[in-house]
Amino acid sequence: MLLLRDLAQLATPSGTEAPLRGAALGEIEVVDRAFVLCDGETIAAVGRMSSLPALDDDVVEVDCRGLCAIPGLVDCHTHAAFGGDRVDEFSLRAGGASYEELHAAGGGILFTVRATRAAGGDGLREAVELHRSWMLREGTTTFEAKSGYGLDRDTELASLRAIRDAGGVPTWLGAHAVPPEFADADAYLDFALADVLPDAAELAEAADVFLERGAFDASQARRYLEACRDAGLALRLHADQFTESGAIPLAVELGARSVDHLEATGEEGIRTLAASDVTGVLLPASALFLDRPMPPGRTLVDAGAAVALATDFNPGSAFCESLPLVCSLAATQLHLSPAEALAACTVNAAHVLGRADDIGRLAPGYRADVTLLEAPDWRYLAYHLGGRVVARVVVGGELR
Ligand code: NIG
Ligand code: FE
Repeated sequence: MLLLRDLAQLATPSGTEAPLRGAALGEIEVVDRAFVLCDGETIAAVGRMSSLPALDDDVVEVDCRGLCAIPGLVDCHTHAAFGGDRVDEFSLRAGGASYEELHAAGGGILFTVRATRAAGGDGLREAVELHRSWMLREGTTTFEAKSGYGLDRDTELASLRAIRDAGGVPTWLGAHAVPPEFADADAYLDFALADVLPDAAELAEAADVFLERGAFDASQARRYLEACRDAGLALRLHADQFTESGAIPLAVELGARSVDHLEATGEEGIRTLAASDVTGVLLPASALFLDRPMPPGRTLVDAGAAVALATDFNPGSAFCESLPLVCSLAATQLHLSPAEALAACTVNAAHVLGRADDIGRLAPGYRADVTLLEAPDWRYLAYHLGGRVVARVVVGGELR
């Protein structure tokens, strides 16, 4: 058994049956002078130090004075399986080139596709392991990651295997861009659905599509998503990043788990999403990195939409693995409270990954994934902008 004792605070969202929304999103339980007791991979008890039960001698005790415990953070949207980098493109963008122009000129995503194909299976495994170690350092104990930089059979499947082997939750982003060997998006989808989907469906838990001008249109996205749904995959969409292209109504109609980005979502899209069971995944680090408008976080929450927060970690639009930084952006740019931000990257993110029974809360029976903050108050998670806020993590009952 592992006992985290004398915590300055413990903070956890409540609720599990459905993603939290409305006022419930901001209702965090806070316990001062707290403990967390882990039995193997599971949380056995949490509470005030004054109510700590008598324990056997074989308990390993960790002095947590000066630390706060929150649920291990859940990053439900990353593109961690890639080779190379885009630092040259980053420098060009700093000088004024736009992300969409670079993409249209065969750079952007397709630049990373070339580097990812060249990395091969071993290179991809090393890359995902490295990126996972960065995420862990930032308090992320569960990460989703997408393929989508292979776009050929071998590299897509190798990406999904590398993600799974690193302990990530794999999503097949088979419709990310049209690779140069295909004449158009329809020809590429003919190939991807016939030759990649059957094996991808064995490895991945969900499918994702980049529904956007210059990528896949709504009818192509529908074709891809319906085939993936029929193969047993949960559905997600890159939606309204630059333009509103019909992603939200399509996601609602198909019963998708999430629509992600939403920087360009207008009033009608907000209303449609709020009235649905689809979660809006907000990625403010991506908007910041591309100097684009922020997604309408406050308006979505006030309208009653279920929202989650994620990094979008990738080499092009968000080279950022830090959920604490994303929480700072949520508070300062999206106008969510620290409590709403915490729920959005724990319990609601767990819902997006279909794992809310197991992770995203500090409560008996949940997996013993705990992020320890170097802070006297758990809200430093959002308050300490870009600072060192994560002290340690506990993953499956093991202190790292
Ligand atoms: O979520 N927009 C599409 N995909 C990624 C970026 C991929 C890239 O630029 O390499 C995103 O922002
Ligand atoms: Fe993304």
